Amino acid sequence: MEVLVLPTAEDVAARAADAVAAQVSRRPHTVLGVATGSSPLGTYRELARRRTEEALDLSQLRCFALDEYVGLPGGHPAAYAEVLERELAGPFGLSASRVRVPDGSRPDLAQACQDYEDAIARAGGIDLQLLGIGVNGHIGFNEPASSLASRTRVKALSARTRSDNARFFDDPGDVPTHCLTQGLGTILEAREVLLVAQGRHKAAAVAAAVEGPVSAMCPASVLQLHRKATVVVDEAAAGGL
Ligand code: GLP
Repeated sequence: MEVLVLPTAEDVAARAADAVAAQVSRRPHTVLGVATGSSPLGTYRELARRRTEEALDLSQLRCFALDEYVGLPGGHPAAYAEVLERELAGPFGLSASRVRVPDGSRPDLAQACQDYEDAIARAGGIDLQLLGIGVNGHIGFNEPASSLASRTRVKALSARTRSDNARFFDDPGDVPTHCLTQGLGTILEAREVLLVAQGRHKAAAVAAAVEGPVSAMCPASVLQLHRKATVVVDEAAAGGL
């Protein structure tokens, strides 16, 4: 695992954008794993800026989201399908069909999870997976105690994650109780992973992920087992290292 500590959140976004741009220049049809939450937003904005100002061509990317809430009404602004349409597909100039998100509205959620795994496999697997990290060490929605070998599945959200994500909803009671998420085993199959974190509130989770034991109690620590994992953090998020 390579760890890069950079002075500011803007530097983190620029470094992550460099990694995506380099991957895209090697392989325009890159399969990019994309995270939601606030952590990767700076990276997406920097890539969109390079697209408009430097003619970076992102139009051939195929993207797969890590996770989605279960049971949100179609078009809900906090649904990750909507977030990625707003923050990624539009600014990157990607047609909607190039951004796949697990479908948390299907009656048969187990089948939706299997179909998602199959779609990733048909695309040839994920070349570069972007990740954020939750304050409890989660990646995707793999909460503490998730199996290190897990696949895409239905998970209950922890009370901590529901309260952290309440800011995206009008009423905290509207935060779904369940989600679909790629498993830790699914994430580990990406050919390269890049985790970004910014801010002091992430320092303990980053330290546990990078320097702690590999443990289901800190799901991000599983990245220590990946052969090409990079963690890019600002100085505040590196405060526990
Ligand atoms: C969310 C997402 C994760 C994200 C994490 C951190 O719940 N499911 O993919 O990495 O929590 O969120 P943020 O970047 O807003 O701190």
